[in-house]
Amino acid sequence: MTKYQGAQQHLEEHQYCWLITGVAGFIGSNLLEVLLKLNQRVVGLDNFSTGYMHNLNQVKERVGEQAWLNFSFIEGDICQLEDCRKACCKVDYVLHHAALGSVPRSIESPILTNENNISGFVNMLVASRDASVKRFVYAASSSTYGDHPDLPKVESMIGRPLSPYAVTKYVNELYAEVFSSCYGIESIGLRYFNVFGPRQDPNGAYAAVIPQWIAALIKGELLRINGDGETSRDFCYIENVIQVNILAALSNDPKAVNQVYNVALNEATSLNRLYEMIRSLLVKEFPYLKNHKPEYVAFREGDVRHSQADISKATRLLGYTPTHRIDKGLKQALDWYIAHVVT
Ligand SMILES: NC(=O)c1ccc[n+]([C@@H]2O[C@H](COP(=O)([O-])OP(=O)(O)OC[C@H]3O[C@@H](n4cnc5c(N)ncnc54)[C@H](O)[C@@H]3O)[C@@H](O)[C@H]2O)c1
Repeated sequence: MTKYQGAQQHLEEHQYCWLITGVAGFIGSNLLEVLLKLNQRVVGLDNFSTGYMHNLNQVKERVGEQAWLNFSFIEGDICQLEDCRKACCKVDYVLHHAALGSVPRSIESPILTNENNISGFVNMLVASRDASVKRFVYAASSSTYGDHPDLPKVESMIGRPLSPYAVTKYVNELYAEVFSSCYGIESIGLRYFNVFGPRQDPNGAYAAVIPQWIAALIKGELLRINGDGETSRDFCYIENVIQVNILAALSNDPKAVNQVYNVALNEATSLNRLYEMIRSLLVKEFPYLKNHKPEYVAFREGDVRHSQADISKATRLLGYTPTHRIDKGLKQALDWYIAHVVT
């Protein structure tokens, strides 16, 4: 039995109360679905700034009425301490995912990004401390590696941040560490590397590359690749992210706590390769993609050239063993997008 299977079994036998902030978003709603299926009680907090009620409705459909009774939703803002306090009441584990994502958004709106990602984060730490939660697990980011040239990325070697977003995610780590030393709060930061999967928003100027491209290809629209297409990322399917959240919350190894971890596969995929993988998977259903070609445009400001995670720390200390490599994840994600993208 893997550590994750053991953790799932433990949850089937013990009911806890979890708080997911950002629950109406991509990662939050997927965490919600899995926890409700494991018969857990979940409180969700979201202000719908980038999340959607339709994500919550979809989870309700997938888990059924009975499990849905274990969910209570608070429409509120992490920038309001009172909303955070209300959400943390009687919670065992916090999975903090509310934030404004996207490097380009942060370059356009640094003040808004700072408010949500730093002030909101500190509010959540204070509320979690005062509610004596068992553990505070939070979404950190690979953007913290900034301009450090080494590959694959190891947790202890970071560079200078390349965007306001990266600054906020690094400051989160510093605050989590300080709250651990000053107040004894247990935290674990998860540095996600380009997560993808069902319910990731394909629309809008700040959409992530995978959902944006899938939607463009399904609709037969123009698809743009920033730069020469040889920029690479360590794309990580959502199932792996869910696994590591549960392992991080439940770990009883003191050495594993108050740490940050890379979360990905330790596999680099170039944008050119990614495009070809998606196109060739979709062409069976959409024959007009046979001769589809991308358009190459300028490199994007603030982007790092290559990103690849060393995941040995998460494997060693948390028992993280990714179950989905990129091709398996893409196939599962595509089924969802084919059913949900309006053509
Ligand atoms: N998706 C990725 O590849 C990735 C990579 C690295 C880090 N992350 C981090 O993971 C977390 C979740 O990302 P996601 O991809 O699910 O994004 P998302 O935009 O789909 O979800 C974020 C959710 O947080 C909510 N939110 C934002 N500000 C809020 C506020 N002030 N109060 C309450 N709710 C608020 C939004 O409405 C949304 O539902 C974020 O912290 C993000 O920075 C994501």
